[in-house]
Amino acid sequence: MKRTAFAAVSAIALVAGTSAFAGPEAEVLHYWTSGGEAKSVAVLQEEFAANGGTWTDMPVAGGGGDAAMTALRARVLSGNAPTAVQLKGPAIQEWYEEGVLADISNVAEAEGWANVLPASIAAHMQCEGTWCAAPVNVHRVDWIWANAEILEANGITMPTTWDEFNTAADKLMAAGIIPLAHGGQAWQDATVFETVVLGLGGAEFYQQALVDLDPAALTSDTMLASFDQMRKLRGYVDGNFSGRDWNLATAMVMNGEAAFQIMGDWAKGEFLAAGKTPGTDFLCASTPGDGFLYNVDSFAMFDVAGDDKRAGQDLLAKLIVGQNFQKVFNMNKGSIPARDDVDLAAFDSCAHLSAKDMGASSDGGSLMPSYAHGMALRGAQAGAITDVVTAHFNSDMSSADAVKMLADAVANSY
Ligand code: BGC
Repeated sequence: MKRTAFAAVSAIALVAGTSAFAGPEAEVLHYWTSGGEAKSVAVLQEEFAANGGTWTDMPVAGGGGDAAMTALRARVLSGNAPTAVQLKGPAIQEWYEEGVLADISNVAEAEGWANVLPASIAAHMQCEGTWCAAPVNVHRVDWIWANAEILEANGITMPTTWDEFNTAADKLMAAGIIPLAHGGQAWQDATVFETVVLGLGGAEFYQQALVDLDPAALTSDTMLASFDQMRKLRGYVDGNFSGRDWNLATAMVMNGEAAFQIMGDWAKGEFLAAGKTPGTDFLCASTPGDGFLYNVDSFAMFDVAGDDKRAGQDLLAKLIVGQNFQKVFNMNKGSIPARDDVDLAAFDSCAHLSAKDMGASSDGGSLMPSYAHGMALRGAQAGAITDVVTAHFNSDMSSADAVKMLADAVANSY
């Protein structure tokens, strides 16, 4: 059921003399708690307040959002859903199918979202023809970040193949430098894994293996080689990697304790928040291989009672896709705008590279949804893959066993 825009609701409330409407309000569940993330979400909080909104913050720490999704489930099950939730990809559709999402088509239509969002992004925001989420950005996952000084001092340039990466990492190890800053959490293992699969197999293979879940691709020699490369990478991380948060791994690169990190461009948000400059203090490049793994953050509104909350949802949705927010937020967050009419002149060189590569990969058919960041698969299938990836990374499991386990886990996940 479509809702009346909040302005109309408030007008009716005034005319009818029902003074219940106090102004737009929103309780916002999100997982943006690191330095760069907090700076970014503050942009939305400020815009919301400047437009008369009252924001109740519900941050749930935990990179990748696993803990936030657990908190969300508990809230919805107890009949007390938050007003707005950081949600993305197929999870939006899963919640829609539960019948608990609000329809924000009134805002989307009034704001002309269909004209400013690329069709591939808009498709994730629509549920059976209605608009059910508002996109914030495009994060790229397949990035490698480096400490510029360490690379220079060791005569290393950004690797363009995984073999080059391994050679550079061996050299750094020999020099007593930790080659790869990594946090041993399942979602971080999955993040690295999908960049390896894309890099070694190419976009078509990535699509077959991690989007279509084709058993032949899952058990192929390319998948074996991907696990071999994961084993190599395991040898390049330090002994304290277990459980480390992703932003602490970024700090290791920033502080010269490690040379590289493989992580989405929310890592750039950390470098920027710490006052570091791309090209001078840190370097960015896509992970070895062609293609682009996208990860679009978005907010879905839950079906809640009360004109104040509904007005809050409409206002939030409108601001999120607004040009100003898309620019300022993404300059802090490390991502690029979701809408295609934002001037990127003020963005840094990594953002320009992202926009250029996204366009080229979209034209060339190698723009792929990130499985590790909930863009490609439903929760059960993504979880089954990640369990195997992390079990392999944290043991001495052979690649052959991992591949077999992977095919079985996917087959049993439906
Ligand atoms: C989200 C980012 C977030 C990152 C670390 C990703 O899945 O899309 O917005 O910064 O996880 O929590």
